[in-house]
Amino acid sequence: MSKQFAVIGNPIEHSRSPELHHAFAAKTGVDLNYVKRLAPLDGFESSVKAFFEQNGLGMNVTVPFKEQAFALCQQLTERAKIAKAVNTLWMENGVLHGDNTDGQGLVDAIKALDWDLKQSKILIIGAGGATRGVIYPLVKAGAEKIVIANRTLARAEQLLNDLKTAVPEAELAVCGLDALEGQFDIVINATSASLTGDALILPEQLHFKHAYEMAYGKPSSFLDQAKARGVPTSEGFGMLVGQAIEAFYIWNGIRPDLKDFI
Ligand code: ATR
Repeated sequence: MSKQFAVIGNPIEHSRSPELHHAFAAKTGVDLNYVKRLAPLDGFESSVKAFFEQNGLGMNVTVPFKEQAFALCQQLTERAKIAKAVNTLWMENGVLHGDNTDGQGLVDAIKALDWDLKQSKILIIGAGGATRGVIYPLVKAGAEKIVIANRTLARAEQLLNDLKTAVPEAELAVCGLDALEGQFDIVINATSASLTGDALILPEQLHFKHAYEMAYGKPSSFLDQAKARGVPTSEGFGMLVGQAIEAFYIWNGIRPDLKDFI
């Protein structure tokens, strides 16, 4: 029988994970079946249990269940503990394990673009779950300074307090969106502004060499402004593929090459 995998969320129809994992399987010769699983908003835990009781091997978790998945796991990786969110589940000797591969997915996508992370200065706009998940992997990949800019400054300050002991080797700072300035190697939009169609303003006193939009397939004022400045840009499809490759590697022990799928 094929290995059984699923992505669980609500809604789930839009998920591209089955398509990606089947593409990795075709490339690597792994025999698997990967399906979408819609869980009721109050039924995440029972749906996960049922999946693993039916011999499921691994699950990806998406909105709105990543924090619930984190709370449910009996064993967590370091990066999942720091992210306080889990997007990859598997069972080992009856123990539910959880990891968060989103941040490494972003790092791998940035590396595939040949943007240098070593000793880089990075500006992340946004201070929600998406930002929390990527700080530790960015620092482990060599980022030297990370500024977190957020519309609500207090939320960025809270995040900084939570994360600074986890990444002592990097300099972390915060600012409000009205105080965006300075020189950065990479600016990352981790807000949900392009998902809701809102504009972000990148002022002239903010200088950057590369711009990464975590969302993909949506109009993005952030990307429009970066393109107008002539800097290299990317949107989040590479990160999506990167996080899927990391999950595939955890479950199957084979790491497909990101560049084959973007
Ligand atoms: P996620 O888990 O995707 O990070 P989230 O936790 O809801 O989602 O966080 C959304 C982020 O986008 C927040 O940083 C939010 O800023 P606030 O903390 O001030 O709410 C940011 N955001 C959403 N819409 C925005 C907008 N129109 N302009 C600027 N920032 C916005």
